[in-house]
Amino acid sequence: MRLLDTRLSAVLSQIPRGSCLLDIGTDHCKLPAEGLLSGRLSAAFAADLREGPLEAARRQLSAEGLLEQVPLFLSDGLKEIPREVLQKVDCVCIAGMGGEVIASIIENAPLEPPLWVLQPMSAVYELMDYLSQKGYRLLSGALAADKEKIYRIFTVCKTDTPYTPDYFSIYRGDPLYETLLDKEERRVTLALQGLRSAKNPPKDRISEEERLLKLIRKARL
Ligand SMILES: C[S@@+](CC[C@H](N)C(=O)[O-])C[C@H]1O[C@@H](n2cnc3c(N)ncnc32)[C@H](O)[C@@H]1O
Repeated sequence: MRLLDTRLSAVLSQIPRGSCLLDIGTDHCKLPAEGLLSGRLSAAFAADLREGPLEAARRQLSAEGLLEQVPLFLSDGLKEIPREVLQKVDCVCIAGMGGEVIASIIENAPLEPPLWVLQPMSAVYELMDYLSQKGYRLLSGALAADKEKIYRIFTVCKTDTPYTPDYFSIYRGDPLYETLLDKEERRVTLALQGLRSAKNPPKDRISEEERLLKLIRKARL
């Protein structure tokens, strides 16, 4: 993976071979570029909210001789992507953004793609909760470690039935599974200590963190 770091390599690993990809928030456009160069993708489109990142995308694609192959769009999420493009796409990727932004892009998508590949930088549980309430099903996941941080990548598709999300089982078997649980247990335990020692302990937040801690411990069984 010449162009990709471990995080984006793990993202690419979750895109089914032969897919036509739409990369939202593409910035440098490395994911579509490497996907095409490695032969994993059959075609790719890319979009960003801002002109600056699209300029970076153009430079990257030119350097790789791919400028003609990856149409670029200035678009807030999927809103400004032409319908005929959306109809061709097998898979939409949103990586490197906060969970709330990802949820709002999915909420406002004019057309539902067959598969979403997501890599939130924050609010991972909130995003998973949102998706489950909307009837999305978690299909697969991968973990990537970079500089002390563990990134979670997961794929979802739309179904009709809301369900209770299982935050961890898609990562079972991943070499970083235990490290993820250790890190999360430590983080939640510390958060709980802080919340419980507050002058007015916030009951809702405490019970939410306690629920998470139980799930983390259950995930070890
Ligand atoms: C941190 S970069 C991530 C780049 C790349 N996807 C990655 O994972 O390395 C986030 C990019 O998302 C773009 N972005 C933020 N909100 C967006 C939205 N609503 N629609 C499209 N792009 C968005 C930003 O302009 C920025 O280029």
